[in-house]
Amino acid sequence: MNIQPIGIFDSGVGGSSIWKEINGLLPNESTIYLADSTHAPYGSKGKQAIIDLSIKNTEYLLNQGAKLIVVACNTATTNAIEHLRAKYNVPFIGIEPAIKPAALKTKTKAIGILATKGTLSSELFSHTSDRFASDLHVIEQIGEGIVPLIENGNLHSFEMKNLLSNYLQPMIEANIDHLVLGCTHYPYLTPILSKMLPKSVKIIDSGEAVARQTKSILEQHSLLNNKTSIEVKHQFFTNGKPEVMQSLLSSNFDVSFLDF
Ligand code: DGL
Repeated sequence: MNIQPIGIFDSGVGGSSIWKEINGLLPNESTIYLADSTHAPYGSKGKQAIIDLSIKNTEYLLNQGAKLIVVACNTATTNAIEHLRAKYNVPFIGIEPAIKPAALKTKTKAIGILATKGTLSSELFSHTSDRFASDLHVIEQIGEGIVPLIENGNLHSFEMKNLLSNYLQPMIEANIDHLVLGCTHYPYLTPILSKMLPKSVKIIDSGEAVARQTKSILEQHSLLNNKTSIEVKHQFFTNGKPEVMQSLLSSNFDVSFLDF
């Protein structure tokens, strides 16, 4: 079991930002990544549709022998992870917007959260927000349109800058000092966002925390790959555009098209 891969899925290419963190912390682990780009964005779908797609992705990864599954998508985590945990026996790691660290560190008592509609409207999100940020000014912004632009390879487009400028304006006016990126596609926007935001605003995401949690759960279940003699293998599958995923990975890994 230990030499089996970690399975990772996202509605598309965004979870590759999480894959990078996991691979950085756990270089001995093989991985298999599934980008369900045909069905992106998940963020504008209803809860049941997100659950159904998450089940389909999970079953594919389990059929490939995944020993643990990382739901590298805030929208799928906040809407479906409870169902996945109840239905399957493997450990699941999810990702949620990093409200807690932002709430603990803010000095201006104002934080911004950029995430999908599906995440911001989920019960899990409102529970976490009530728990950690009820005394703060929280500016929630749906990142409408961002995921499709990234999925189509238009990360550095004029449309993207326009969208972001509109989304950031109310946050800048509210004097936020932390911007929480609540979608795994968004860390790829960090260089653009930091040019648009005042220097005092810290941009945070949950990628590193997910990698640490993955390591800790593998340890707890005695599932770490200790056989360094076995070649580590990374497989990437997308039902969208392999070249977009390839350019975000900026490495020599092959990304294969898979019709699922
Ligand atoms: N990467 C997904 C997330 O973290 C994007 C969701 C979507 O497809 O709308 O929420």
